[in-house]
Amino acid sequence: MYLEYWGFSEFPFENVPDPRFFYLSKSHEEALTRLLYAAKMRKGGAMLSGEVGCGKTTLTKVCIQELPREKFDIGLVVNPRLEPVEFLQEVLYQFQSAEVPETKVKCLRMLREKMIENLKARKETVLMIDEAQLLTETTLEEIRLLLNFQMNDRFLITIILLGQPELQERIRAIPQLGQRIAIKYHLDPFDYADTSKYIAFRQKKAGRQGNAFSEESVEKIYENTQGVPRKINNLCDLSLLIGFSRNDKVIGPEIIESVVSDGALL
Ligand SMILES: Nc1ncnc2c1ncn2[C@@H]1O[C@H](COP(=O)(O)OP(=O)(O)OP(=O)(O)O)[C@@H](O)[C@H]1O
Ligand SMILES: [Mg+2]
Repeated sequence: MYLEYWGFSEFPFENVPDPRFFYLSKSHEEALTRLLYAAKMRKGGAMLSGEVGCGKTTLTKVCIQELPREKFDIGLVVNPRLEPVEFLQEVLYQFQSAEVPETKVKCLRMLREKMIENLKARKETVLMIDEAQLLTETTLEEIRLLLNFQMNDRFLITIILLGQPELQERIRAIPQLGQRIAIKYHLDPFDYADTSKYIAFRQKKAGRQGNAFSEESVEKIYENTQGVPRKINNLCDLSLLIGFSRNDKVIGPEIIESVVSDGALL
């Protein structure tokens, strides 16, 4: 394929949330700082909203990597469209509980024991919920109740919700929950400068010296993707393929245009 042709040792624009390829844009840096702050300072709840494909799932992986295992016990739920009991069971499972009880009361008891155990071991309990816009009304209520687990005015758990923009409205509609979420941040796509740096950064990470994309092509990429990383990846990947098949030495704006008109971003 095009790897060797362009001088890459691995594919530069894969759509996987791989922290090795994580680029710290202004907005991603701000988001990461706040999420880490929420976990380290026991802020109770935090929420990160952001448009589709902007990097929320990637940020969960980076966050997990940044929080040392010996101080943080982290559970990540990625598919939260569950009714309360199933949800609590999934949470326990993600916290590596060997046995998951059948009833809600027993699940809650076990979860509380887990938090106390962590407290004694001087570990923070952090629950991250990706795709949180999919949470049901009753499960959101359960999350509110989890935030009631406190001791001496200290939260026993930090809950980080990540989801598409409608998550904001979901949370706003439940003020009892919204007020417990001390940290809220909206992740923006890259601006033009970050789009340009991101494209260069990814190529370098994948082993190439120098930029295969001309400045005009980067402008076209920004115009057509509005800086959304997943769209940039799709567009860049296909452009490299077309450039390779045409034996081009650099990706020019005409390649970007042809990939876009072929419907790559639909
Ligand atoms: N800051 C970043 N650095 C490097 N790559 C990124 C960054 N943000 C996003 N990406 C890339 O974009 C792709 C899409 O990002 P991600 O899956 O994290 O978005 P999302 O916000 O979770 O989207 P969705 O709303 O569809 O769940 C990722 O697979 C990753 O390759
Ligand atoms: Mg995601």
